[in-house]
Amino acid sequence: MFIAPNTHHHHRHRPCPPSSPTTAHKRSTSLSPAKFKSLIRITNTVTTPDDADGNETAASNQPTPSSAGRIKQLVLSPESRTKLNALPDRDFYSFPRFVKHVDDGFLATLTDLYRDRVRPGSEVLDLMSSWVSHLPEEVRYKRVVGHGMNAQELARNPRLDYFFVKDLNREPRLELASGSFDAVLCTVSVQYLQQPEEVFAEVFRALRPGGVFIVSFSNRLFYEKAITAWRDGTGYGRVQLVVQYFQCIEGFTEPEIIRKLPGSSAAREGKSPLDWIFRLLGLLSGPDPFYAVIAHKNFKPVYE
Ligand SMILES: C[S@@+](CC[C@H](N)C(=O)[O-])C[C@H]1O[C@@H](n2cnc3c(N)ncnc32)[C@H](O)[C@@H]1O
Repeated sequence: MFIAPNTHHHHRHRPCPPSSPTTAHKRSTSLSPAKFKSLIRITNTVTTPDDADGNETAASNQPTPSSAGRIKQLVLSPESRTKLNALPDRDFYSFPRFVKHVDDGFLATLTDLYRDRVRPGSEVLDLMSSWVSHLPEEVRYKRVVGHGMNAQELARNPRLDYFFVKDLNREPRLELASGSFDAVLCTVSVQYLQQPEEVFAEVFRALRPGGVFIVSFSNRLFYEKAITAWRDGTGYGRVQLVVQYFQCIEGFTEPEIIRKLPGSSAAREGKSPLDWIFRLLGLLSGPDPFYAVIAHKNFKPVYE
């Protein structure tokens, strides 16, 4: 169910649900009849086993539906999907956490990335969201829909026009119209998904062709709630895991990786000699590394 959050931006409280399947259907068939016919004709020149002898058969006149969005293979074994805390996620997220999960440097990098990659006027889905938005404040979007696990957190998020609460580990389907978003964001949360293949397929479905999915993360996590594959992984291994989540879906572009590691000596240095001693003793962890994996929904023909 969609709920408009209680913000001070009253103009945002449009009481309509997210775009209906009818709207999406209109977008995908907006070719002129002549163009559509010529497209079908081109695809029919491809030789299939049915007409290998060169005769045009009735079957060859039938365009086959696109396989885009299909899960090509599973990335995770059953064991690697398990969590140390196997209690329902609903219980873990039943009380709001009004905290920031990563440091300001990470968040500034993320906001810059969004400014660069998410066009003004876009329809945006913030998947696995909470009370803060990392979208640049000055940019206006057509619609920002939030999803998360705690209604109180989401209700406080000033950026959301609507939100919905859903445990994706219980049921990974998104009740969103196909082809209704230009951008989907997932910030410091992908490690909690136990069926990431299903969720990435759903994100693919919800995106418009050309739409972008930006998955960002650091090395912080609710350890007991992260899946085994993530807990066991290094920074590099976790990046590869997310790359594979994208690659297992037919129709995402080759994922792009962005890393910003606190490797420079300036970033490592503390502000005081005490910081240096604390760091030596492992009491200060240093800046949060930034990783993002990004891919687009490819422009594939509706029929292949
Ligand atoms: C560390 S918080 C990150 C919140 C937000 N993206 C941010 O940047 O502040 C992890 C989030 O993952 C989401 N989450 C965790 N388990 C989930 C589940 N089983 N289904 C759906 N979302 C889940 C919740 O929305 C939770 O707030």
